[in-house]
Amino acid sequence: MATRTLPGFEPDQEPASLDACRRCPLWKDATQAVPGAGPRHAPLMIVGEQPGDQEDLQGKPFVGPAGAMLDRALEEAGVERKKVYVTNAVKHFKWEPRGKRRMHKTPAQREIDACHYWIEKETGKIGPKVIVALGATALKSVLQSSGAKLQASMGHAIEHDGRVVVATYHPSFVLRAPDPESREKAYRAIVEALREAHKLIG
Ligand code: URA
Repeated sequence: MATRTLPGFEPDQEPASLDACRRCPLWKDATQAVPGAGPRHAPLMIVGEQPGDQEDLQGKPFVGPAGAMLDRALEEAGVERKKVYVTNAVKHFKWEPRGKRRMHKTPAQREIDACHYWIEKETGKIGPKVIVALGATALKSVLQSSGAKLQASMGHAIEHDGRVVVATYHPSFVLRAPDPESREKAYRAIVEALREAHKLIG
């Protein structure tokens, strides 16, 4: 059966660089692509969803409010951020205008799939022993499964492709939590997952 390529998608493109990536249309509205950051052979890789407003402007992952929350959780879990490779499932900021603000929009599965090309390259280059997936988008990308469910995947390590995957909430979920109690619960879950990942790298 012939497959139809969606407008704006070039799923077979093998870009010379991340900035030249046109595998999906998200590059059009983004300031720049945001690559992962961290040591070349970090045993621990953390995967988020996509760059936010600040990350899009600065070209670095997790430098905005979600990044501050992640930094706090890493510190509490006893993990040094400078020893971790931090990246995102999708490398361009997907947003929609609301007044003067750029509001985050969750990436579609076809965008996660298109960008998996880069996650695969990063995973191959860094060779992490353990990957922490922050939120459902990251989990779908890391497990290469559009049906991956965050809740069902939390609380236990998952063997995937010769690596260990630990799933937890995205820090933005903590920031958006409706009350202090659920905020604290979600934050604790992230700290616990980071602690567990740290233990697993030995
Ligand atoms: N949220 C993410 O998932 N990644 C970032 O880099 C920033 C916010």
